[in-house]
Amino acid sequence: MTIRRLKLTDLPRVMRIERDSFAEVGYSTTTFLGHLLRDRRHSLVAEDAQGDVVGYALVRMNLGWLGMRKGGITSIAVDPRRRRSGIGRALMVGALEQLAEHGAEEADLEVEANNRAAQSLYEAFGFRQSRLLPHYYGPDRDGIKMIADLKCGVRVRVRSAAGADRAGDG
Ligand SMILES: CC(C)(COP(=O)(O)OP(=O)(O)OC[C@H]1O[C@@H](n2cnc3c(N)ncnc32)[C@H](O)[C@@H]1OP(=O)(O)O)[C@@H](O)C(=O)NCCC(=O)NCCS
Repeated sequence: MTIRRLKLTDLPRVMRIERDSFAEVGYSTTTFLGHLLRDRRHSLVAEDAQGDVVGYALVRMNLGWLGMRKGGITSIAVDPRRRRSGIGRALMVGALEQLAEHGAEEADLEVEANNRAAQSLYEAFGFRQSRLLPHYYGPDRDGIKMIADLKCGVRVRVRSAAGADRAGDG
């Protein structure tokens, strides 16, 4: 599995994963393109040994002159057939390392309140709930803003075979 920078030619495959993952709350191709044109340098894909793109992370870096340097994960998704094999975690490591290397002291993201899978992934990287975003994803679909401190670098909590958590560098 390779984590590499997202190229414009990856877009059709990335959009397929996006549609399979988010259905009606997913981004349109236009929204996606807009994000990439604004900030393509930090966004990543996961590519398997056959060269197939199996996941992506859209990453944003906010401008430094607005005060504290901050970054964020705009979207992350893994091909539904390839989940639960560490691809999401690898993308998060890559995304947060990008942000930390570019001086981000904090990262934020939004997640649907009932998306426990994603929240569990984010919590493993030290993200904590910051505030509720009522109806962020539509009527009766609340969001949660989560933030993580990157000042000490990227740390990920992994579960040992015995089920206990331990912290380690990403
Ligand atoms: C969230 C998502 C990116 C995770 O990708 P993944 O490759 O399956 O994740 P990983 O295999 O790397 O799992 C890493 C951790 O995430 C959490 N996790 C992933 N899937 C989970 C699930 N179905 N239920 C509970 N926790 C889950 C676990 O903490 C897991 O660690 P563990 O395996 O030690 O328990 C994937 O489920 C996805 O694409 N979901 C749809 C899109 C989405 O919701 N994106 C987030 C939008 S905010």
